[in-house]
Amino acid sequence: MKVTVSRKAHFNAAHRLYRKDWTFEQNDAVFGKCNNPNFHGHNYELIVSVTGEINPETGYVIDIKDLSDLILEEVEKPFDHKNLNLDVPEFENLNPTAENIVVVIWNKIRKKIEPELDLEVVLFETPRNFVTYKGE
Ligand code: NI
Repeated sequence: MKVTVSRKAHFNAAHRLYRKDWTFEQNDAVFGKCNNPNFHGHNYELIVSVTGEINPETGYVIDIKDLSDLILEEVEKPFDHKNLNLDVPEFENLNPTAENIVVVIWNKIRKKIEPELDLEVVLFETPRNFVTYKGE
């Protein structure tokens, strides 16, 4: 019997979508307004979901307080009120698209939870635009 436990979280961050090895015109053609050299911000929302068997002793799949602390340390503290391109080492040479951000977040949390638990992260860049990564 598997149950999914989810925790919502939030961070505000700035980014610019571009490739350093492309000209401004190439970047403009692909990334449009998101290539603004002065950056722009989003209110990112995320849902982190952990699926596994209920521990018969505790009744928990994962202690949600532990999950919440993990998201705070791995995502909120390093990303909130940051410029993703300039302040977050993972994006020094990785375009901070929603797709790449969700994979970075998934990898950070994956390392900190028990291997038998399944992990899914949904990242909303706007209320209508969101991406999902399950490690596949
Ligand atoms: Ni953007």
